[in-house]
Amino acid sequence: MDRRQFIVGAAALAGMPEVVAAGQSGRADKLNIALIGVWGRAFAFYDVLATENVVAVCDVYEDRFADALKRFPQAKTYIDWRKCLDHKGLDAVVICTPDHHHALIANWALNRNLHVYCEKPLAISVEEARVVRANWLRKKGKLATQVGMQRHAYPNFNRVRELIRDGAVGDLRSACAWGNRQIRRPAYPAAQGQPPAGLHWDLWLGAAPDHPYSPSYLEGGPGMNCLSWNMYWDFGAGQIGDMGSHTMDLLWNAVDAKLPTSAQAKGEKFNPDVTPVECESHFDHPANSWRGPIDVSWYQGGAMPESPSSWLDLRRIDHGAMFEGTRGYLISDFGGRIILPLGDSADMSYYKPRVKEAILPNLGDFTKQWLDACRNPSLKTACDFEYSGNMIEQLLLGLVAYRAGAKLTYDGATGAVTGSPEAAQLLKRTYRKGWTING
Ligand SMILES: NC(=O)c1ccc[n+]([C@@H]2O[C@H](COP(=O)([O-])OP(=O)(O)OC[C@H]3O[C@@H](n4cnc5c(N)ncnc54)[C@H](O)[C@@H]3O)[C@@H](O)[C@H]2O)c1
Repeated sequence: MDRRQFIVGAAALAGMPEVVAAGQSGRADKLNIALIGVWGRAFAFYDVLATENVVAVCDVYEDRFADALKRFPQAKTYIDWRKCLDHKGLDAVVICTPDHHHALIANWALNRNLHVYCEKPLAISVEEARVVRANWLRKKGKLATQVGMQRHAYPNFNRVRELIRDGAVGDLRSACAWGNRQIRRPAYPAAQGQPPAGLHWDLWLGAAPDHPYSPSYLEGGPGMNCLSWNMYWDFGAGQIGDMGSHTMDLLWNAVDAKLPTSAQAKGEKFNPDVTPVECESHFDHPANSWRGPIDVSWYQGGAMPESPSSWLDLRRIDHGAMFEGTRGYLISDFGGRIILPLGDSADMSYYKPRVKEAILPNLGDFTKQWLDACRNPSLKTACDFEYSGNMIEQLLLGLVAYRAGAKLTYDGATGAVTGSPEAAQLLKRTYRKGWTING
């Protein structure tokens, strides 16, 4: 398919601007991409994006442009993503900014009929997850989306799915995932010094409430700097948004769940500045076409599920998932799994491994899957905004239940929550004056 043809497909979306010719590329079907947030995690995309036309790069810290321009010398630089998204002829955007910008940039990009790859987490409030997912569902089949849960491409994800679907633990009753990363902070950093020249602090804050600059927000190395700010309520969702996005994905891929009907959570004492380190959340999920209702849980920061066996120390698995069925347990980390049939005499004769021909194919390169779908949006991506949006909405609802301190019932169709008078307010963020998710 040449660029013209694939653009014609995409341009079927109302109002999509005529797209410029292939630019510096030799290949006719190269995509014109904007990279928003060009340092840190963004480095992981440089090689694959170099196979396309990176026509725009955007960062609020001008010092960060040097690396990007070395790799993408033709790109125009922007410091404000709202202007970058209006770069003429864009096809797609890759979002590698801090978490509190994700849903806004993704939604503005969808409003401009751009394909979107967004780093995880897709959102930091329940409402944001719902807005972005709903917007994409209106454009599904015409725009490609992917959330940066790239571990999804590990073959183990599909092996776990096959075992659960094929009844290796009997009928599924419950599933949980956990993560043991523990980064403790007392409060937002105090004001310290002035932002370095070239850092547009007001744009770093974006839609978040005002906070004074502190160098501690920037003290992490490339790709790890998210651990300098993602625990603060205004900038992230703590480990739920961070490793929770990856580890819940291991479970989510196997259970075919949508939105829960209830959420309940408990953890360490509430801190108005900092998301909890130790916390556990529990969700009820209705039956689907192949299984009955299940409980889904998320444990973090030292909270752990009970091990099914005294000789099995789940704490040895930093980030893992466990599935309980009527016949046994499956326990998994990102790379491997074990099955624990129930009882001394369990012989697993109830389970038939699937034939070789029915083994799920490997996903291949996770970013390339999205690039392929940008060219042909009828192709499915593994972590599109529906799959990932449902998953993060569930996890963020757990944080709402933690803050409300009550068991909540949830109507996934409307987003209405009952069980606590304050919960409805906690579903959404309040954006700073002048900022909107729907621009
Ligand atoms: N998928 C993964 O395995 C993985 C790994 C690491 C980080 N991440 C995600 O990547 C994202 C970035 O993490 P990081 O550690 O690179 O963070 P970071 O703090 O280093 O920020 C990345 C870049 O974004 C820029 N930036 C900040 N605000 C911006 C804005 N409003 N517009 C444009 N650029 C802006 C920063 O200046 C920086 O250059 C986070 O959402 C994080 O969760 C994902």
